[in-house]
Amino acid sequence: MVPKGASERAETSGYRKLELFFMSGTGNSYRNAKWIEAEAKELHLKTNINLVPATHPTSVSMERQTLYGFVMPTHAFTAPWPMIKFVLRLPRARGAHAFSIVGRGGSKAGNTYIPGLEGTACYLMALLLLLKGFSVRGVLAVDMPGNWVVAYPAPSPEKAAGIINRARAKTLAFFAKIMEGKRSFGGWIGLGFGFLLAPISIAYLIVGRFFLAKIFFANNDCNGCGLCARNCSYGGIRMRGLEKPRPYWTYNCENCMRCMAYCPEKAIEAGHSWAVILYFVSSTSVSVYLLNLLAPYTGEIVMNPWLALPLQYAYLLASMAAAYWLFSILLRVPLINSIFTHTTFTHVFRRYHEPETKARDLL
Ligand SMILES: Cc1cc2nc3c(=O)[nH]c(=O)nc-3n(C[C@H](O)[C@H](O)[C@H](O)COP(=O)(O)O)c2cc1C
Ligand code: SF4
Ligand code: SF4
Repeated sequence: MVPKGASERAETSGYRKLELFFMSGTGNSYRNAKWIEAEAKELHLKTNINLVPATHPTSVSMERQTLYGFVMPTHAFTAPWPMIKFVLRLPRARGAHAFSIVGRGGSKAGNTYIPGLEGTACYLMALLLLLKGFSVRGVLAVDMPGNWVVAYPAPSPEKAAGIINRARAKTLAFFAKIMEGKRSFGGWIGLGFGFLLAPISIAYLIVGRFFLAKIFFANNDCNGCGLCARNCSYGGIRMRGLEKPRPYWTYNCENCMRCMAYCPEKAIEAGHSWAVILYFVSSTSVSVYLLNLLAPYTGEIVMNPWLALPLQYAYLLASMAAAYWLFSILLRVPLINSIFTHTTFTHVFRRYHEPETKARDLL
């Protein structure tokens, strides 16, 4: 049903079209985008919904009478890398209007809703959009069920439903404001925390993403179906082994949690005990020790910070890749696999994906 005066509102807003771009691991941001798409249709606004990273940024055409919306999850208190990259590669917007919606990981204890923390995500997006020549009309951080099951169990289906209902109302109220031609900027407290937590966000973008990619593994329940690899939008998984193929996580993984959420065997784990070993193998102290060993042959030059830092970074990535390769071979021994499976929290944590969203909606 078209709400009273809705089509007039679309006309008065002056927009002819809505282009939505969403990135989503487990369907939360997809759902946010679908709510807006449905509302825009009620307002007789022609709407396209585009998936990041499948959409090529340079193919996006910029029109003054089109409204552009960017919807994404929070990753490590900031905007996720694939969306940052996508926006940076867009053509100049020449004053076109844009808004951004960032999903946080919310939860519920008893009857109390506990918000997530978007940190710098909203305003980093606003800044990037501004730099690309958009006129930014608003940003919104909205709590959806937390999906980072590496760190905590997902909320129960009942709690998730409560969180999603609240999020729908908040998302649509925000969109209505934008359509009325008003600006809507909130989340200043989140931004304050975001500045304090910026070292974590930066560390995540530089190394954390790669480290976390290398802690995923498939437990003994994996049947080698390859669905996880096919469902990944980033090429984050390669199936390895001819007789019994098993997933192998690459540095392309963006930690979106989709593979873990949709594996039919619930076979994907994030190895917590393995993470401790991997941390030690790749830690700075080991690379400093190795640099010290090199020093007698190369002279002091190797200790120069301009050389030592890139060397340490290269060591970190190479050592994690090598350790993970060895780990993947050892995991084929059922007993070793079982030991790592039973020493990770994810083995008992509940998985999560947005209840109405199928993996194919996200591809
Ligand atoms: C790697 C990773 C990091 C996350 N970091 C945060 C965070 O810093 N703050 C937060 O509120 N939620 C965080 N979350 C939770 C998600 O942002 C949130 O559940 C979001 O709604 C997921 O949306 P999606 O299903 O569209 O990917 C994180 C999730 C992942 C997978
Ligand atoms: S981890 Fe799950 S989805 Fe991936 S191959 Fe194994 S059973 Fe299939
Ligand atoms: S490998 Fe899994 S967690 Fe990583 S990006 Fe692909 S689907 Fe997401």
